[in-house]
Amino acid sequence: MAARIPRPAPPALVVHLMPMRRRHLRAVMRIESQVYPRPWSLALFMSELALRTTRAYTVARVDGAVIGYSGLMLAGDDAHVTTIAVDPAWHRRGIGSRLLLNMVRTAAARGAGHLTLEVRVGNEAAQVLYRRFGFYPAGVRKNYYAETNEDALVMWVDDIATPVYRERLAEIEATISGTTVVVGSAEGDGGPDSREPEDNQGREDA
Ligand SMILES: CC(C)(COP(=O)(O)OP(=O)(O)OC[C@H]1O[C@@H](n2cnc3c(N)ncnc32)[C@H](O)[C@@H]1OP(=O)(O)O)[C@@H](O)C(=O)NCCC(=O)NCCS
Repeated sequence: MAARIPRPAPPALVVHLMPMRRRHLRAVMRIESQVYPRPWSLALFMSELALRTTRAYTVARVDGAVIGYSGLMLAGDDAHVTTIAVDPAWHRRGIGSRLLLNMVRTAAARGAGHLTLEVRVGNEAAQVLYRRFGFYPAGVRKNYYAETNEDALVMWVDDIATPVYRERLAEIEATISGTTVVVGSAEGDGGPDSREPEDNQGREDA
């Protein structure tokens, strides 16, 4: 009988999260056009990136390629998720969860106690993800997405800076396989197009 050759284990997934830069925008726009019926324009991303004190935009990269991104608007005690998207080829691999974990922690670190967002009433996938993080529905904005005639569900999560909520985040994090490396911070980094040392390795997206 032939000896059984052990199958090599698949390489562990390593996801880097880092501040979004202009050079990431080509890849971001590619994902944006695949997942949203009315994608944001390049100009809109550029203007968001310019608002450095009240925004925190992040990309998720694997082997140098951008596979997801998120955006956070900070307004004192309240923070607002402006966007979150993952390349369809990477859905259900915990990328959205990593981005959301990072956003909630960034919001809390920057002084927010509560986090809100709007989501299409028909977007069940995103709502499942948000509910896992403790977001609850707080109202409906009629015809918020005018291009598709859809209403938005407004969701909130409260008390994100408490030990109890931090524990919830740790429990969610424990369920995500692979490694998440957070590079730099969305706060006080080196300018809209500064380079992190990590950027010199691997493939650049743009
Ligand atoms: C919403 C989105 C960001 C989720 O990204 P993702 O990387 O697939 O999310 P995760 O793998 O971290 O999913 C975490 C959990 O959310 C839930 N979930 C995610 N996608 C789901 C789906 N299609 N159906 C049901 N549940 C889903 C599951 O509970 C999942 O955990 P599991 O895979 O262990 O069951 C992604 O679907 C996306 O980019 N959608 C298009 C853009 C969008 O709608 N953004 C939100 C705008 S408000």
